[in-house]
Amino acid sequence: MSKVKISEAVRFMVDCLKAAGAAAKAAEQQADLLIQADRLGHPSHGLNRLEFYVNDILSGACTPNNQPTVLKESPSTAWVDANNVLGATASHFAMDIAIKKAKETGVGWVTVKGSNHNGMAGYWAKKAADRGCIGMAFTNTSPLLVPTRGKQSALGTNPISVVANASENETFYLDMATTAVAVGKIEMQQRKGEPLPRGWAQGPDGKETTDADLAFKTQCLMPLGGGEQTSGYKGYGLSGVVDLLCGIASGANYGHHIRSWSHSGSGGPANLGQCFIAVDIDCFAPGFGDRLTESMQHWRKIEPSDPSLPVLAPGDKEKKKAKETDECGTVSFVQQQIKSCASLAERLKVKPMEVLQD
Ligand SMILES: NC(=O)c1ccc[n+]([C@@H]2O[C@H](COP(=O)([O-])OP(=O)(O)OC[C@H]3O[C@@H](n4cnc5c(N)ncnc54)[C@H](O)[C@@H]3O)[C@@H](O)[C@H]2O)c1
Repeated sequence: MSKVKISEAVRFMVDCLKAAGAAAKAAEQQADLLIQADRLGHPSHGLNRLEFYVNDILSGACTPNNQPTVLKESPSTAWVDANNVLGATASHFAMDIAIKKAKETGVGWVTVKGSNHNGMAGYWAKKAADRGCIGMAFTNTSPLLVPTRGKQSALGTNPISVVANASENETFYLDMATTAVAVGKIEMQQRKGEPLPRGWAQGPDGKETTDADLAFKTQCLMPLGGGEQTSGYKGYGLSGVVDLLCGIASGANYGHHIRSWSHSGSGGPANLGQCFIAVDIDCFAPGFGDRLTESMQHWRKIEPSDPSLPVLAPGDKEKKKAKETDECGTVSFVQQQIKSCASLAERLKVKPMEVLQD
């Protein structure tokens, strides 16, 4: 692993996105989304994604300098056309509206069409949580999930995120793909040259595979829960719920109609659907934060089945990783990623990312 200063990784990402054609604000917002993923321990959604975004801009599949527009609204809802901007631009626009409406009416519910990949879903739910709301964010994605009993993908990894701040600096932070893992985790295994755990993906024969290259090529991820015996159909159902809220409600592409996402940026605009919900906690019983903290602290005190692995609350891993990252001020990347960044710098004629010497 090679270390890079956080500020340097951000500088590199902003430079690349600007060199590809994004305006400074759009580049900075997208880069912050990416660095937060690296900071929280989700490298699959960090720097790892940069080249996809760059290629989407260069190929014209994403038009970062358009403006999102509101197509229709009520006091508590809005339907937005992202007009094919970067996912971060669209998501800030939509979640800002959801938060404003939640503060005015108690609930803000915004669906978006014409959007692009918006990274870590929890980033968006947390934005509303930091404004005193229960934040929820969902997005549909390119087809990767194989419906239970199937041999072909039909739905996305469609993440669900629900985030709420509690008292004593606690945060309930659930941010999860509805497949067993996000596809980026398969890419990370490829980059590391390591096999996949069982229950993540199927090969072209419809059987589980541990071969990361074959899994990436086949693009058939198993739903959350795995096979039918272990209730994978619930993950499949949840992925369907996300698409209903995102693609189907917004009139964006949905399920099997979404293009597959490639490194080259070929395939035209993604026209993804997204959904952002903010609920003002003050509308309900006082003491929400205290009760949530009491619950989370209770869960952690449950006797672990393996004493070396304490029970965690959702978000604990991310919080620990963020603290470690902030203390050292650096993020670490696998060698293969550093090499890809060097070629990208050359291609875009930007200053290469400076790697710290050990
Ligand atoms: N934008 C997209 O197209 C897209 C698609 C899929 C996933 N994603 C993102 O990929 C990222 C990774 O998703 P994932 O599903 O692989 O995440 P994950 O499996 O690492 O974690 C999922 C959730 O479980 C919690 N968790 C983990 N271990 C736990 C434990 N032992 N006890 C209690 N809680 C625990 C985490 O805090 C997190 O909230 C997320 O940020 C997600 O939004 C994005």
